[in-house]
Amino acid sequence: MSASWIKDAVFYEIYPQSFCDTNGDGIGDIQGIISKLDYVKSIGCNALWINPWYESPFVDAGYDVRDFYKIAPRYGTMEDAVELFKVAHEKGIHVLIDLVPGHTSEQHPWFVESSKEHPGEEFADRYIWTENAFCRGDGMPFIGGETPRDATYIINFFKCQPALNYGYRKINEPNWQQPIDSPAALATREAMKDVMRFWLDKGCDGFRVDMADSLVKNDGDEKLGTMEVWKDITSDVRKDYPDMALVSEWNNPGCALHCGFDMDFCLDWYGNSYSQLVRLYQMDKKGAITRDDSFFKAESQNDPMAFLRDFMPKYEQRGEGLYCMITGNHDCKRTSFNLNDKERKLAFAFLLTMPGAPFIYYGDEIGMAYRWLPTKEGGYHRTGTRTPMQWDDSKNLGFSTADADKLYLPVDPNPGNATVAAQEKDPDSMLNHIRKVLALRKEYADLGAYTDMTVYHAEAGDRLFAVKRGEMLVAVNPGLEEKSLELDGKYEIVYVFGEAELAEDLKVGKQTMAVLKPVK
Ligand code: GLC
Ligand code: CA
Repeated sequence: MSASWIKDAVFYEIYPQSFCDTNGDGIGDIQGIISKLDYVKSIGCNALWINPWYESPFVDAGYDVRDFYKIAPRYGTMEDAVELFKVAHEKGIHVLIDLVPGHTSEQHPWFVESSKEHPGEEFADRYIWTENAFCRGDGMPFIGGETPRDATYIINFFKCQPALNYGYRKINEPNWQQPIDSPAALATREAMKDVMRFWLDKGCDGFRVDMADSLVKNDGDEKLGTMEVWKDITSDVRKDYPDMALVSEWNNPGCALHCGFDMDFCLDWYGNSYSQLVRLYQMDKKGAITRDDSFFKAESQNDPMAFLRDFMPKYEQRGEGLYCMITGNHDCKRTSFNLNDKERKLAFAFLLTMPGAPFIYYGDEIGMAYRWLPTKEGGYHRTGTRTPMQWDDSKNLGFSTADADKLYLPVDPNPGNATVAAQEKDPDSMLNHIRKVLALRKEYADLGAYTDMTVYHAEAGDRLFAVKRGEMLVAVNPGLEEKSLELDGKYEIVYVFGEAELAEDLKVGKQTMAVLKPVK
């Protein structure tokens, strides 16, 4: 049974280092998040997902956790975190924090102990160690030659992120691969349950779960071992926290939504449904776009069929759960990289009226630019998506009072940069567009998270796309030609826009024919 509050939840993802700095050190902090909760509400969001804020050496921006039980000093203190939960709840905002269950930092005390020549029993098999320093990883990425312990170890992502040991489903190397019910694998599970209970006790409402599919190794496509582990973790923790909500980074509702997750993300992995809509482009070596087949790119010839081929089977496996759309996230280039304002307004209108709980990445609501920047904290191409939030035209665009060279990342120096303050005043701004779309979603129950979505119009070679949501239709025409859609007069229409001002174009009403003007 899912937490009942997610039925109406609209999430806002906050990358804490780049959101709002209140003590002038150039890095966003928890008090900064607290100070902007009313703004978050004003968009129409009523829930947060905050990227990792734990103590960390920040080799992967905090996804390399050194201490699950401490707030990184650069963000504030445990008191600040508790205050955030409290103030958010007073304002009707639920808060998910990021749980990183699959790995830790190589500086985590568990790993430090585990990598000793003679590790103590408790943490000796907390990670996956092979037989000796010359042993390979049986197909998994591994690191050797770095530790006093005479073994190599498996990593989950970057070199700094050794994989925690949840066991193997298929054991090829009995000398070092352990089954999922081995004592050490079970101990890892219990340790992660403790982390969850700790933060739920502090007041968080649940977790966005990083690399949720990564726990059990040699698990095959069916992921039966990983699902078994999650079933145990979620059911056990839920006994005491029935309102906890969990969203998985998995992009596989057939697995995730059948082992205890309430929500799973529709992610940007190349070629997937999200990419089909907004990021199906090719780049040259310099990073310039040479071709863009995204459905929402006006000039593209793409029809919705490839999107539907990927999306529908996954959506249909959602069971009681929610398959959730994102405007973007901290791992992919912002859609402003390839789509212009009008294209993006249309794309967001579509994404935000789909089933599932929508997730807006901070700054997308004002159309913040993607910027090519040197890598920071393991960001690489993701760095340009993680720049400081743009509040107003004061120093550092209102993000921080620090000197510009002290900022976590530089603010967008472009004179045309978007800011919240400027967009508040402009009725046609991206910000006000997003507000309108979310208001519509709130007004019409049929646009809600659990209402079924079926295809009303989609054809090969046709840019017109319409889906039915209960008694409503959501129709979009991202192309360059006017399109008309025949209706039987019984649907409310949310149809989306062309030449005229957006305010006129986002319409709702019963009609027999809808004319959808082109984007340009
Ligand atoms: C997830 C996170 C990403 C991180 C990785 C390793 O994909 O979203 O930012 O680098 O996991 O934890
Ligand atoms: Ca700060």
